[in-house]
Amino acid sequence: MKLYIDSLNVKEIQKALDTGIIYGVTTNPFIAVELEEEYITRIKKICELVKTEVHVQAEGKTADELIKNAQTLSEISPVIIVKIPTFMEGIKAIKTLSSMGIKTTATAITAPSQALAAALAGATYVAPFIGRVNNTSHSGLKLVKTISKIFKEHDVKTEILAASIKNAMQVVYAFKVGAQAATVKFDILRDVIENPHSLSIIEEMNKCWEKIKVEWERK
Ligand code: E4P
Repeated sequence: MKLYIDSLNVKEIQKALDTGIIYGVTTNPFIAVELEEEYITRIKKICELVKTEVHVQAEGKTADELIKNAQTLSEISPVIIVKIPTFMEGIKAIKTLSSMGIKTTATAITAPSQALAAALAGATYVAPFIGRVNNTSHSGLKLVKTISKIFKEHDVKTEILAASIKNAMQVVYAFKVGAQAATVKFDILRDVIENPHSLSIIEEMNKCWEKIKVEWERK
């Protein structure tokens, strides 16, 4: 099980890493559009913090553009996994990049067939978009489950990185139905760790601590 933080905010990423339960970082154009700093400059800063994986999307409408920009990204740091959108040109790019030894995440997946195509092209990860699929009146978790069944049945090595997660229970169920990895925004990471019921129990515990006679100093 691998949990990622979906962010381009250096302070937020550091806070998430400090919990000790975050494997890597994912980024995407929806959060990049908010950046005041230049994209590559920010990616370089994030790569200095992370020793494992930083998933970064390449821009491009054709396979050639995607390949060229993916190469630029992969030269920044060995931790970069290049995100490529899943469409005809993207699949062509994934195929070429994987033959060059560049790791990829096929992103914006909304149907099982796309995960299959990405796996055939040699993608390292596929990223089904749970929340955005749910918005189309289909089940994002069912999508993850179907992809997982196909990959298991055919011994596919491509990993499932559940994305577009909107609440803590979707993280739980994504892993339950076979995702190897999931990425969450910082507020959802907090909801994964904390629960209002636990917080009120902890508050009650703390009130007890105020009345307990104890010497914590080690002699
Ligand atoms: C991963 O990085 C995905 O791009 C991301 O989870 C999409 O999330 P959103 O649907 O909340 O924009």
